Amino acid sequence: MATCQPNSPAASHPLIATFNRAGQGQVFAFFDRLDPDSRDRLLAQAAEIDLAEIARLTATLLTPGANTGTDLLGLAPAPYEPRPENGGDPTAWAAARAAGETALRDGRVAAFTVAGGQGTRLGYDGPKGTFPVTPVQRKTLFQVFAEKILAAGRRFGRTPRWFIMTSHANHEATETFFATHNFFGLNPERVHCFRQGRMPAVGLDGKILLEAPDAIALSPDGHGGALRALERSGALDRMAADGADTISYFQVDNPLVRCLDAEFIGWHLLRGSALSSKMVVKSGPEEKVGHFCVLGGRTVVIEYSEPAMQPKLPEKNPDGSLRFRAGSIAIHLLDREFVRRMARGGNIALPFHRADKQIVCLDSAGNPVKPTKPNGVKFEQFVFDALPFAQNPIVIETSRADDFSPVKNAAGPDSPATCRADQLRQFARWLRAAGVAIATDATGLPPFDLEISPLFATDQETFAAAWEKLSPKPKIEPGLYLG
Ligand code: UTP
Repeated sequence: MATCQPNSPAASHPLIATFNRAGQGQVFAFFDRLDPDSRDRLLAQAAEIDLAEIARLTATLLTPGANTGTDLLGLAPAPYEPRPENGGDPTAWAAARAAGETALRDGRVAAFTVAGGQGTRLGYDGPKGTFPVTPVQRKTLFQVFAEKILAAGRRFGRTPRWFIMTSHANHEATETFFATHNFFGLNPERVHCFRQGRMPAVGLDGKILLEAPDAIALSPDGHGGALRALERSGALDRMAADGADTISYFQVDNPLVRCLDAEFIGWHLLRGSALSSKMVVKSGPEEKVGHFCVLGGRTVVIEYSEPAMQPKLPEKNPDGSLRFRAGSIAIHLLDREFVRRMARGGNIALPFHRADKQIVCLDSAGNPVKPTKPNGVKFEQFVFDALPFAQNPIVIETSRADDFSPVKNAAGPDSPATCRADQLRQFARWLRAAGVAIATDATGLPPFDLEISPLFATDQETFAAAWEKLSPKPKIEPGLYLG
C-alpha cells in the first residue's frame, strides 16, 4: 500500500499519524491526491473510528486460532410464559393485559423501530420502511406502523412517541418520506428519526478498507447499536421528560407486529423486567431464528448460525417436541434506564460479532475490487446481547400468525409474497371470528385480496367490535378495504 512522502499533507496531520502508529496508515494512502473537501471528508470519517476498539476486535475475532464461537457447555432452553391457549395461566395473562393498558393510558410507552439495516436480501432501492406491503392499498411498512400507533392513541387516549433508528445511508430519504406523507397523520413533533453509529469494514488481516480514495468502507453497527444511538441522540432524555419508561422495540420489516401490545407490556412491568422478549415455537429445527436459552444462569439468545448450536437443534423432549423451541422474533420491551446504563458502557457493553462479507473496496493501487467471495469483515452488535445484563428478563409466547411475518428476501420464505398471504390470512380469521362467511383454502388463505386498516381494527377483538358497529355491512368481495 502507498505511503505518504515526508513533507506531504498526510505526513503532518496528527490524526493520520495516529492511524500510522496503529498500523492503519493505508486509510490515507491517496490523501495527498485529494482536493481539500475530500480530505476533510476522509478525516471526519476517520475521526469516528475508535482505533483501540478495532485493534481489540482484530485480536479477538480475526486472529487465526482466536475462539470466535460460544462455549455452550450446560446450555438449556430458556423458560417462557406460554399463552393461555397453550397451557398458560389465563388469570396472569388478564392481569398483564390490564397493567399494560394502564401503562398505555398513562403514556409510559414509546414505540421504537430499528430501520438502519441495509436490506440487501430484499434488494429494494430505498429505506425498507418505504416498501409497500399491504395487499390492496399497497401501504408501506412505515404507514402500517404509523396507523398502529395512531390506533393505540385513539384507544388509550395518549399517542406514544415514535422513535426510528435510521442509518447514514437512509436517514435523509426516511425523513423526506415522512414529511412528504404528512407523517401519516401523526404529530410530526412526536416522530423522531436518528442515525445509528457506523463501524469500518476491515480486510481479513484487520486493515480498515477504503471504498473510495476519500471514503472509508463504513457500515451500520448492527441493531445493537440502537442502545448507544438512543442515548446519544437524546431519545432517552426526551422519553424521560415525557414520563415514558418503557421502549417497545420492533424491526422495520414486520408489518404484523403488535407494536404496542398491552399484554406484553403488562408482563414486562409486573415482573420488573429490564428487557422482555417475545418468542414463537419454532416451526422446525431448521427455522432460521435465534434461540432463547439459559447459559450460566443467564438468559441469552443463541443464533441458529452458531456452529456449537448445530448438534442441539434436533434435540427432542420426551413428548417429541423440540427441546430448543423458543424462537426469537426480535420483539422486545426495554426499560429506558437499563438502555442508558448499557449505552454508557463501562463493564456492561455489548460485544461485537464478526460478519464475513463481500466488500466492494479499493486495492492497494487504488483499483476497485468487486469480490465474489467474502474478502472482509463487518462488526455488528446485536440487541439481544443485552439480555444477560438485564434484571428479571422474561420471555413470553406470542401467536406467530398475529405478530410475525417479516419481509427479508425478494422471493421465497419471508418475502413480500409470504407476508401478503399472512396478512390476508389474518384478515380472513378476524372476519370469520366475527361471524362473517369467507372461503379460504386449507391454510386459511382467502382466494382474493382484501385489507383491514389498523385504523379500523388492530386485533380480533377490536375487529369484532368495529364490525358490529358497521352499518350497512360491506360485501365480502375482491378488493374489500376496511379503513
Ligand atoms: P436484518 O438482520 O434483517 O438486516 O435486520 P438488514 O440489514 O435489514 O437486511 P439484510 O441482512 O442486509 O438483508 C433486522 C432489523 O434490524 C435493523 C434492520 O433495519 C431490521 O429492522 N438493523 C439491522 C438496524 O437497524 N441496523 C443495523 O445495523 C442492522
